[in-house]
Amino acid sequence: MKKTLLALSALPLLAVPVLAGDKEAKENKTKAQKCPICEKEANPKCTTEYEGKTYAFNSGGCRDKFKKQREESLYHQLGGKAAINAAVDLFYVKVLADDRINHFFEDVNMKRQHNKQKQFLSAALGGPEAWTGKDMRKAHKDLPDLDEDHFNAVAEHLQSTLAELKVEKEMIGKVMAAVGSVKGDVLNEKKSDKPDAKKKKNKKKEAKKEEK
Ligand code: HEM
Repeated sequence: MKKTLLALSALPLLAVPVLAGDKEAKENKTKAQKCPICEKEANPKCTTEYEGKTYAFNSGGCRDKFKKQREESLYHQLGGKAAINAAVDLFYVKVLADDRINHFFEDVNMKRQHNKQKQFLSAALGGPEAWTGKDMRKAHKDLPDLDEDHFNAVAEHLQSTLAELKVEKEMIGKVMAAVGSVKGDVLNEKKSDKPDAKKKKNKKKEAKKEEK
């Protein structure tokens, strides 16, 4: 990679990526940063650091809220970025070794998949960065014949990964509940297939019967 860049530097065209980088840097400077809590303009003097990154806020109140959210998050309690990264890496070793599900990943760029899963899980467990990838329904809608057994196999690997990494039982339960909440979307179930919706329907039916 370095060699290619050096070779290109002999050409006047090399100025293009450098200029593009400059432009990006300038845009970032002129764009006012948004407060991650209230989404209003952030005050560059009202900041805090989390995992080596500086976050700016609209007010001290927003900063306190952000800090509290971080401290209380499952993400933080699990050990933050390093813990999630380690868990996802081990998780995909298990997934790819499992003949019930590894065919789904045959043509998938696994480096990208690791990164996406790290970002998704981090956000889902209360990490500081929002998930900006596809929603779970879209991400899995083209997987042929994906069913509950496949979902359970994936969940099983996540659970055993966390156990292997010595995460407390109670915490594992909480993570599995968070992951379980996307099951309907991953399996592309109709909203009305969801157990909650079914329960509500049944309750309505029963209420009607009683009225009669
Ligand atoms: C347990 C819940 C699951 C979560 C949280 C999850 C999460 C994700 C995420 C974050 C992505 C990337 C989306 C993007 O590109 O923006 C993804 C893609 C994918 N997932 Fe899942 N997933 C789950 C279950 C499953 C299951 C059960 C399977 C199959 C056994 C599966 C197979 C795949 C495949 C093959 C892709 C890549 C699709 C592509 O790039 O074309 N996932 N998943």
